Amino acid sequence: MKVKVKKGELRNSQSKAVVVGQFEGSKNLEGSAAVLDKNCDGLISDLIKDGVFQGKLFETGIVNTRGLIMPDWVVVIGLGKKNELNLEKVRGAFSKAARTIRDLNIKDFSASLDSGNTDLPIDKVAQSAVEGVLLGLYRFVPFKTIERDQIKEVNEFVIMETKPDLLKIIKSAAKTGEIISDAVYYTRDLVAAPSNEMTPSILADKAREAFVKRPVELKIISEPAMKKLGMNALLGVARGSNEPPKLIIMEYNGGKKGERPVVLVGKGITFDSGGISIKPADSMDEMKTDMSGGAAVIGTLMASADLRIPFNIVGIIPATENLPGGNAYKPGDILKSMSGKTIEVLNTDAEGRVVLADAFAYANRYNPAAMIDMATLTGACIIALGDLIVGMMGTDEGLKNMIRVASEATGEKVWELPLWEEYDELIKSDAADFKNTGGRAGGAITAALFLSKFVGDYPWVHLDIAGPAWLKKDRPYISKGASGVGVRLMVELLRNWTR
Ligand code: BES
Ligand code: MN
Ligand code: ZN
Repeated sequence: MKVKVKKGELRNSQSKAVVVGQFEGSKNLEGSAAVLDKNCDGLISDLIKDGVFQGKLFETGIVNTRGLIMPDWVVVIGLGKKNELNLEKVRGAFSKAARTIRDLNIKDFSASLDSGNTDLPIDKVAQSAVEGVLLGLYRFVPFKTIERDQIKEVNEFVIMETKPDLLKIIKSAAKTGEIISDAVYYTRDLVAAPSNEMTPSILADKAREAFVKRPVELKIISEPAMKKLGMNALLGVARGSNEPPKLIIMEYNGGKKGERPVVLVGKGITFDSGGISIKPADSMDEMKTDMSGGAAVIGTLMASADLRIPFNIVGIIPATENLPGGNAYKPGDILKSMSGKTIEVLNTDAEGRVVLADAFAYANRYNPAAMIDMATLTGACIIALGDLIVGMMGTDEGLKNMIRVASEATGEKVWELPLWEEYDELIKSDAADFKNTGGRAGGAITAALFLSKFVGDYPWVHLDIAGPAWLKKDRPYISKGASGVGVRLMVELLRNWTR
């Protein structure tokens, strides 16, 4: 899919279709829609005259232009009430337009960003338009072999602009949107891949593939080195599987030499059966997505490198399967983690926090300026916040506030849960330092408290993405399935980063 920005008017577009927007409750067409309507003898205003088209959010109207202008079709998208338009709705509207165009089996379309005066900054609108189109058209089809020719595809999206001073701004913002969307695509592909095609070794290969042509250094730590480092927590979880675990490390040096990096850690369980504490069969297949945090870290580093973000960023992914087997770790086992702290395993299905403990210990070597981890950590977080909201817990108000700002901007919804020491006793172990479960009540919080015991003295935030990593229904610009959640949030955070 190509994204282009061109100088000119919509009526002269070379595309087969053009898209214009219309607000709800306004009697007249505005912006580019008004111009286009004049160009084609009022064909578009006919739609609103009879109340056939009301401009309700994401409503669509389709008009044939009968040769009056170059493009054959005009797709009109409802933008809802004018004073309620925001970037999230811009993404949704462009996604709806792109999906409508695809359903019509049209391969290319143009749009203008001028839908009448709104207060939204043009660069953000351009970036959101591109994100809406690209993210909304995503599909996961590599394993479909029959009737492939019937898969409809849009090949080109052109933004048309007449004002020369705006062209440059729009071009650069559209490029940003494209870079970020590409990274989200890569992340979604990793998450959607089934576990037989996404083992820890394949995940490491995919990271290598992502960074061959990017200024990111990749290091893979395999079993022998893990043993030397004393990573017995990660090794313990990996014992039930025949697939060797990998610790995937990515270093991007966009900042000054020696400057403390921002460290991103992502849970990389390529399949979570629960282990000896095995999960029920229903929906167990979904646990192929238990490496969503790790995949989001890879996507974030890809986009950070492409955007030349001026900071040092390190990504760390502890990757393994969690399976039952003759050699698997068992309830009651005590593991001595790399940090030296001991973990009593009460439930082998609480494996995420166990592998993250060793990843955190490794992260400490970097003397992080801050650390953020993303993990599909607990079902309890889904019970607390539902399928669409990321749970946030952490030790630093400043960092949490910056994440809240990035959440507002990207539409990747985040809500904080308290990380209070009242529940510390729930993860104290009789036999070891900590136990890996704190019971059902407050499960997302006790999981985060466990993680906090392995974090050094620097700002840290944990993002539990168990809900939004995998969507059961289509959303306005995020298709059902792997969402790539975390990538846009982290890239926005890093682009706004201040020390
Ligand atoms: N990967 C799961 C959490 C999860 C559940 C993610 C549903 C996405 C959808 C995690 O490893 C897990 O199994 N957590 C247990 C912890 C419990 C045993 C303390 C859970 O949430 O049930
Ligand atoms: Mn589990
Ligand atoms: Zn898990």
